[in-house]
Amino acid sequence: DLVIGTAIAGGGHHDDQDYPDPFTADHKYRTILDRQFGSVSAENQMKWEYIHPEQDSYDFEAADAIVDFAERNGQQVRGHTLLWHSQNPDWLEEGDFSDTELRAILRDHITTVVGRYAGRIQQWDVANEIFDGDGNLRTEENIWIRELGPGIIADAFRWAHEADPSAELFLNDYNVEGVNAKSDAYHELARDLLAQDVPLHGFAAQGHLSIEYEFPGDLEENLGRFDDLGLATAITEIDVRMELPESGRPTHAQLGQQADYYRRALRACLNVDGCESFTIWGFTDKYSWVPHTFEGEGAATVMNDHFVRKPAFFSLLGTL
Ligand code: XIL
Repeated sequence: DLVIGTAIAGGGHHDDQDYPDPFTADHKYRTILDRQFGSVSAENQMKWEYIHPEQDSYDFEAADAIVDFAERNGQQVRGHTLLWHSQNPDWLEEGDFSDTELRAILRDHITTVVGRYAGRIQQWDVANEIFDGDGNLRTEENIWIRELGPGIIADAFRWAHEADPSAELFLNDYNVEGVNAKSDAYHELARDLLAQDVPLHGFAAQGHLSIEYEFPGDLEENLGRFDDLGLATAITEIDVRMELPESGRPTHAQLGQQADYYRRALRACLNVDGCESFTIWGFTDKYSWVPHTFEGEGAATVMNDHFVRKPAFFSLLGTL
């Protein structure tokens, strides 16, 4: 039942991450994408700054290409994302809108984007990264929560549900793999939303892990408590980064540890009934976001720059 997915590289938000779009330009990449995965996610292509670059115009080209590709290959699509503090266009962040206008802008966006792919995108990350590490809502950073109050979260789910009643709607965040202040906040929010009959269907942990930190051994327990609320769960963006030695090449020991982290994460998901998808945040180090974001770190995916399968690839296969 569990679907294994990957993010499709493209876009990229850092100046030094301006790679050619591997989806259209890299044949080898595309072949693996087609054959190895049951689900795909847009790494950047459905984010506001890409899909809604001007107030009065949308750009669906890259997103359409992903959804068409997935449909041809019988793959599911995870939509990412609708309400977030990051990668929003300047016209939105720097615009001078009244509350009424902002609400209408969000509603129009959700209705348009979710509606366009209704029936073709099976899961949406409706709200992304809305809590900080202490479990407080990102009231300053997140334009929607700051300007419109926390009630906007429930509205976003309602609007998405209206636009596509068949899509499963998720909360999604990082550092919520284990039981901690942030995942506690999600658990409380999820209970509240469900009590108000808000169409919330799932809770997802991104899974951006590092071998420099301990594996979150309570991942299964944490997913389990959301499962107990009747929610689907998912790992949506897993990668396992490491500090690279001088040579730039990971050691055997590092690759072994990385394989172990991937295996344990997949095991946890398999052990939770409602854990329905396990998505890696890219399958090759060639296009991984990690070296562009975490200085000195890398080698976070299951294949190296030349698409050679790393121990992590085989540990996942062996766990399935
Ligand atoms: C990252 C992409 O991988 C990068 O290409 C981009 O430059 C920045 O965003 N959490 C999320 C993802 O929800 O959208 C982020 O993706 C990684 C962290």
